[in-house]
Formats: sequence, structure tokens, C-alpha cells
Amino acid sequence: MSKSSPPPGTSDILPEEAPTWNLLENTARKIFALYGYRELRTPIFEYTEVFQRGLGDETEVVKKEMYTFEDRGGRSLTLRPEGTAGVMRSLSGTDALNGVEHRVFYIGPMFRGERPAAGRRRQFHQIGVENAGKVSPELDAECIAMLLHYLEEIGITGTTLYLNTRGVAADRPAAEQALRQYFEPCLDRMCADCRERFERNIWRILDCKQECCRPFIEQAPDPAAFFSDESKLYFKKVCDALTAMGIEYVVEPRLVRGLDYYVHTVFELVHPGLGGQTAIAGGGRYELRLPETGKPIQGVGYAAGMERLLMVREALGIPPVPQENPKIFLVSMGERALAFNIALAAKLRKAGIAAGLELETKSLKSQMRSADRLKAAWSVVVGESELESGKAMLKNMADSSQKEIELTADALAKELC
Ligand code: HAM
Repeated sequence: MSKSSPPPGTSDILPEEAPTWNLLENTARKIFALYGYRELRTPIFEYTEVFQRGLGDETEVVKKEMYTFEDRGGRSLTLRPEGTAGVMRSLSGTDALNGVEHRVFYIGPMFRGERPAAGRRRQFHQIGVENAGKVSPELDAECIAMLLHYLEEIGITGTTLYLNTRGVAADRPAAEQALRQYFEPCLDRMCADCRERFERNIWRILDCKQECCRPFIEQAPDPAAFFSDESKLYFKKVCDALTAMGIEYVVEPRLVRGLDYYVHTVFELVHPGLGGQTAIAGGGRYELRLPETGKPIQGVGYAAGMERLLMVREALGIPPVPQENPKIFLVSMGERALAFNIALAAKLRKAGIAAGLELETKSLKSQMRSADRLKAAWSVVVGESELESGKAMLKNMADSSQKEIELTADALAKELC
């Protein structure tokens, strides 16, 4: 492995890629603000217990994928594998615990020790939203609508919304018993992971993508059929609210999601541009246990994987956001011209105009090559005669046309704005 590459499953975000990342982030900030969401930045690592309690010990992420380490004080810390648990840990100090609504979003890196593949990274980035404190099916629907609004704004259309209900804890034993009775006789023909899931967390069998398991899973009973009338009504209200907003969805009884904190609504968004069934975003309503007290905190939210959003944009043929190039490149012929241009560039930059120049004297050819490489829109050559006359030729780099201008920051700023 070359030492110039970052560790497997991680990537540099290069200067030419950064403008598109910024677009995704800034658009999220703009759209989420329309719905009253405010940005919350939590630490990149938390006490391990935040995730163990929050996501559940039996969650694959907690069991197999966390980057956990001990600090010098002997505390167990973990790089955040997702955003919800840390956000809820932060909000637990507020009145969200007493049913007061809090609307927050976050943007940043997450870490999971997964096998790297296209769209599956060890360090990946999420744009996520959490609404804590209130329980309401209309809120769940509004959250989904906000996600679709955001995707549309960044040019992503053509997604399929898969929707399901996980009911509440009290609904689960009857559904689990039905699943147990159904899967037990099939287990010897199913994968080893599913046999383990049967013992530890039978719901996760429904999520299995192995060919040998699919036929059994497709025939499995719909767990929601065993849920209480109250849970069924909650789900109907979510569906009705989505329909009222003109949002199409597919009810997928086998959608359980990979994290164990979900109750009621769960959803995933899939796009053909990613190939297969890989989700670009997922979320739902949850009841999360807080560290120390073990108190439950309610919320609804989702996260979209930024790498996957970028892959879909590319598959849709949306060009990357171009880098900001210098508006003008100042070419210096001689020491006096260089000193003049350094001062001129400083004034132009303060006036909000991106200016480029070489900070040492070089040949005209070499400086013009730099102007081309940086894709400057204009250039101006300053030498002894220009300094004398106070005038110079402003060259349009695209069509090589030239016009005479006064060699002052004000005159240039007026010309270039
Ligand atoms: P999640 O489904 O685990 O949910 O992740 C959400 C999104 O993050 C996925 O749909 C995917 O786009 C992206 N993602 C996950 N793992 C990877 C990976 N290894 N590489 C690249 N992208 C990945 C959660 O994280 C929940 N916290 C979402 C949520 C918020 N539920 C309620 N509130």
C-alpha cells in the first residue's frame, strides 16, 4: 500500500471536488432552515456507551464495525458510526426529554469498519436531521418531504421511497413469534448469518440480501399484521400525510433498517444510479436510550450519505461544480512591476476579486502558462512602460481580445465586476 494513499475505505476530498461537496452542504443548510432546523455540531468521538446504549448491543454496527479506543485516562471512546446517538446525547440536556420539540441537522464524517466497496466507505459523510421531543405521524411525513425537497434542489430526482413500520416494543413479541415459527423449518437452507440472526435478532433476517435466503424471506409473514391497532393507525396517518403532499412511496414489509432504535416509521431512498438496493438515505422514528440514566428519548430523522449523493449526481450526468478560478492574472515584467502587482493584487482581493500572480519574476511565456493553468478569465501585463503611462491592456483569455484600461485597482474592479 502506497504511503501517499489514505487508509483503505477513506479518501481525500481534492480541491477540484470540494466545490461540489460545498454545494451539497450549503444547499442542506438553506433547505433545512426553511423547515426551522438549526445546525448542531457534536464531537467526532463519544463515550462508547453512547452508541452501545443508543444503537443497541445487538446492532451489527456496534458488534462489528465501531472504531473504539481507550484514551489516556482509560475511558472507552468510539469514533461516531452515525449521528443520531451523539445528537440525542447532546439534546438530553434540554427540555426535549419533556416533549418540547427540537429541530437540528448535522453534516460531517462518520466511521464504520466495513469492507470497502463503491459507495461503502470506512470514513463517509452524512447530512442528517433529527427532530426530537414530539411524536407525530405528520412530523415523520414532513421529515421525508424535507429530504425529497433537498434532493430535488441538488438535482437528484427519480428516487424510490420505501416505507414500513416497525411498530412499538409492545408489538414485537407477537410478530417475532410468527417470524420464528415461519423461519425455523427453513434455517438449514439459509445462510450462516441468518442462522445467527435467528438466535440473536430475528428481524435482521428480513434484511438479508443472500440469494439462498431471498425466496424464504419473500414468503415470510408481514410482521406489521401482528401489530396493535394503534401502531397500524399511526402508520396509516404517515401514509395519508405523504399522499396528501403528493409523495409516492412503496410499502416494503421487509424493510427493518440496520439500527435497532427504530419504532413506527422507517424509510429508505433508493436510486438506480447507485445500482442494486443500496440506499442513498435512510431513517425513521426512534426511541433511543441515553447513557447513564437509560432514559428513552423520542425522535424522527434521517441521514443521507454524501458520497452516495455524489455518485448519483454523476450517474445523472450532473457536472461537478467548477472551482473558482482567478478573475484576473497579473503578469509582472521586472522587479518594479512585481512590487506594483503585489500591492495591486492585495487591493483587488480586498475588493472581492480573485487575483492570481507569480511571486517571483519569470518570463512572459511562463507567467502566461500559469494564467492558462489557473484558468484566469483576464490577464494584464505590467512592465516599465505600463508603470510609466499608468495604462495597460486587459486581455480576455477566452477570445484574446484586448482593451486599454487604467492601471488602478478601482478601474480594474469596475471593469471586472
Ligand atoms: P444508516 O442507514 O446507517 O442510518 O445510514 C444513513 C446513510 O448513510 C445510508 O443511507 C448511506 O447513504 C450512508 N452510509 C451508511 N454507511 C455508509 C458507508 N459505510 N459508506 C458510505 N455511506 C454510508 C443512520 O446512520 C441513521 N443514524 C439515520 C437516522 C437518523 N435515523 C434516524 N435519524
